[in-house]
Amino acid sequence: MCGIVGFTGRQNAAPILLEGLKKLEYRGYDSAGIAVTNEGKISLVKTSGKIVNLCEKIDNGAALPGFSGIGHTRWATHGVPNDINAHPHLSNDGKFAIVHNGIIENYIVLREELLSKGYTFESDTDTEVIVHLIEMYYKGNLKEAVMKTSARLEGSYALGVICSECPDTLYAMKQASPLIIGVGVGENFFASDVTALINYTKNVIYLEDGEFAELRPDDVTVYDCRGRKIDKEITRVVWDVEAAEKGGYEHFMLKEIMEQPRALKATIEPRIKDGHVVFEDFELTAEELKNTDRIVITACGSAYYAGCAGKYVIEELCRIPVSTELASELRYSNPIISDRTILIAISQSGETADTIAAMKECKARGAKVIAIVNVVGSTVAKLADHVIYTWAGPEIAVATTKGYTTQLAVLYMLATYMAERTGTLSSEKCRELVQDICHIPGDIQRAIDLNADTRELGRKYSKCTSMFFIGRNIDYCVCLEGALKMKEISYLRAEAYAAGELKHGPIALIGDGQLVIAAACYEELFDKTMSNIKEVKARGAEVLGIALEGNRKIFTEADDVMFVPKTNPLFNTAAAVVPLQLLSYYVAKENGCDIDKPKNLAKSVTVE
Ligand code: G6P
Repeated sequence: MCGIVGFTGRQNAAPILLEGLKKLEYRGYDSAGIAVTNEGKISLVKTSGKIVNLCEKIDNGAALPGFSGIGHTRWATHGVPNDINAHPHLSNDGKFAIVHNGIIENYIVLREELLSKGYTFESDTDTEVIVHLIEMYYKGNLKEAVMKTSARLEGSYALGVICSECPDTLYAMKQASPLIIGVGVGENFFASDVTALINYTKNVIYLEDGEFAELRPDDVTVYDCRGRKIDKEITRVVWDVEAAEKGGYEHFMLKEIMEQPRALKATIEPRIKDGHVVFEDFELTAEELKNTDRIVITACGSAYYAGCAGKYVIEELCRIPVSTELASELRYSNPIISDRTILIAISQSGETADTIAAMKECKARGAKVIAIVNVVGSTVAKLADHVIYTWAGPEIAVATTKGYTTQLAVLYMLATYMAERTGTLSSEKCRELVQDICHIPGDIQRAIDLNADTRELGRKYSKCTSMFFIGRNIDYCVCLEGALKMKEISYLRAEAYAAGELKHGPIALIGDGQLVIAAACYEELFDKTMSNIKEVKARGAEVLGIALEGNRKIFTEADDVMFVPKTNPLFNTAAAVVPLQLLSYYVAKENGCDIDKPKNLAKSVTVE
């Protein structure tokens, strides 16, 4: 989704803004632009397409001198992705420029009002109303104009503003869209997320909704929505620059796949003490769990699929009913939630608009909210009663890998933790589970090693136009995530079905040469899955099986097999997804796809 950056200091702003925008590319975008203040004027350049186009236009920033400015990557919502709709947007008098991430829901009414007052519009965006409102309210005091403008806006925004009359000052405002302030020495920044800043500073201020900041080279002042100065804590970011770079890999996605053993270790190890799961910041008592009649898991995309696997594990270990709900559906479903419900919200970015809305909805109905989230200080983390961080480090590729597997690990730990407290399992059994959880980083490493030659399979299957993924129980969850990875980065039609559902429709589509990827790792149901494999083989399908290391039976039907190590069956999803991550990576690579930044997708979906 859109990304914004701002800089004010004593060096040329444009190269720094371009660098920042490059770091935000992974969020997904289709046009980009920057504006700087220089000699009492605002200079602005924007263009559709990639940031390299923008860099070319302004000689990597050298052609746009000025010590403060704002930049933007746009992911089109209102108006097609072209030069005109790209941000920054300029006021009619040329004194103000703004960048915006979010959606202004009442923009039509505001647009009509502004048109009737003689303001003219260039673009089709909802954003442009903001800059004209600032011009309308500006009477020599930018802070006042900014406040009056924000009071008129409905919807979500992270906003950056510059004004030619106060060339070293930036304003940054936040309402339901991500925005952080970077505090440097003699220079200050704002950005949609820390990846754009960590090259320059690790000292950040997290703004709350309704707050806004005034940035000058030597100071940052934060105000509440009524303009009263507030003291904000400066937080030190733990992520390092290296973690947000490719480190010799061709793509972030491959790097992040390979990082999984380390990421899982970072997620699991600190939470295991004396053979028990211990969460640093919270405690669920046996009493609270006894009072819980239902657990609802909510999320979007891969995080939702992690939640699907979590349902199986929590129900099996804790015997508490769990439903996993798409956040975009849950938020509008008049959900049956009470103070006896635990809501588990899962999000890598912590900024997914639907997940946030579903959390608010359930919280208002009394649910206790536990968030599983990767980004510290994100909105999901702030909204939750308790947070369990995944500690995966920055994930840059749009298609999540280590974000997803670390979410699984947290769900496994949470299920074990709850089972121990409710007494559904003996403490001995819980200790065994804890040991199995501790093996996950090694299991994932083994899954990577076993599938080192996936490149060949990627080549073989890259010309398929569609794929079916089938599996049962938690193998089905593996399929859901595997099919999503394939769609996201290879643009192939990849659909996952519970294997038992084949007969109820999808089998009509199976014919000669149709690729079926069959996950058959869940041993208890192996024979059932094998029957489904036979059914598709009998209709001419080509089968790629995913099976446990050492399983020979699979070869009686499958044309190719990818192996994963034998683990506790309940926790197998984390290792079993690895070959599918690698397969989609190599299929996409073979087909020349833009793996880290797939078309139309955004890493962090901050609008509905
Ligand atoms: C987007 C991404 C998906 C991701 C989903 C949820 O759709 O493209 O890869 O799974 O958002 O993101 P979250 O940050 O909430 O985990």
